[in-house]
Amino acid sequence: MRRNTRVGIVTSGGDCQGLNAAIRGVGKSLFKYVDNVEIFGMYDGYRGLIEGDYKFMESKDFSGILTEGGTILGTSRQRYIPGKAIVDDEGNDLMPAMLDTYNRLNLDCLVVMGGNGTQKSAKLLMDAGMNIITLPKTIDNDIYGTDTTFGFQSAVDIGTNVIDYIHSTASSHGRVFLVELMGRDAGWLTLNAGIASGADIILIPEIPYTIEAVAAAVEQRYRHGKHFSIIAVAEGAVSATDAVLSEEERRKVKEQSKHSTISYRIASELEALTGQETRVTVPGHYQRGGPPCPYDRVLATQFGTAAAMLIREKRYGLMVGVQKGEIVSVPLEDAASRTKFLPVDHPLIQTARDVEIYFGDEV
Ligand code: F6P
Repeated sequence: MRRNTRVGIVTSGGDCQGLNAAIRGVGKSLFKYVDNVEIFGMYDGYRGLIEGDYKFMESKDFSGILTEGGTILGTSRQRYIPGKAIVDDEGNDLMPAMLDTYNRLNLDCLVVMGGNGTQKSAKLLMDAGMNIITLPKTIDNDIYGTDTTFGFQSAVDIGTNVIDYIHSTASSHGRVFLVELMGRDAGWLTLNAGIASGADIILIPEIPYTIEAVAAAVEQRYRHGKHFSIIAVAEGAVSATDAVLSEEERRKVKEQSKHSTISYRIASELEALTGQETRVTVPGHYQRGGPPCPYDRVLATQFGTAAAMLIREKRYGLMVGVQKGEIVSVPLEDAASRTKFLPVDHPLIQTARDVEIYFGDEV
């Protein structure tokens, strides 16, 4: 008699829009094509796998969740020692506990949905002997091996909307506004939302800025009769002076700074240089909330169903992605090997410069 196919699902790391659409894609497709499938949803990311805290998911659990934000399974961030281990607060290796749950449930495969960090930690699970398929989710779009991730476009929509709304108040008051967007150390989100909303200056980690160049751009606009400026700032934006520091030195600069985020530091330096009234808006986790945009619903559904297809074919150790519009699968060890930063010669950067957007590196 044929044994049941048993699949676990984990959503790990920061949540984002489209996770439920992806869970639905995996579940519906498995129930449609695989006889005797059993699906176990781990609660709160790896925590569920570590503690054996899971939900046996029935077909009905995958209905009605396409448009829901967040993740029905919950998520958490686990401490990860790069390339080595997933550990608890005392530094104990949690792999034995995760293997125990995996083996006790007799899983054929674990589908792990996560961002950059989760791809890296999922590789450890694979190295420990689990059959792993990952899906790339993050608003940061910084996962290597895929052109885009689900969650990203929804966050671009929100970032764009925030800047659109800031425009009228900035223009009414003749103020400089900095809108700080997420993205960790990559500038994808800020660049896209900045172009979409017609930001005047975009500051991203990949192009270190000087405050003098930013001030010169603001003043040039002023001279041309534009008495307000909108600056889209990536949370990971870095000054040219700080960019040459070691990671440790940069951490110290941050710790010693009286400003809570980079935008507040830029705002205070800019106000001092230009004399223009300056304000900061930080939409924060709002960028990760709410329903996925239609693009992300489609992408997450494609990724989820592609994962189910890999399970049917018993192909593991892969991350599903999209390259040049085609759904692909790439070796997890490649996807986990590096972070996808924005290349400084990316055509979108030139597009932005072509419409007179400044990057704080030149005027
Ligand atoms: O990786 C997604 C992300 O939203 C980043 O853009 C941001 O830097 C970080 O997570 C915030 O993390 P947390 O939700 O743990 O505050």
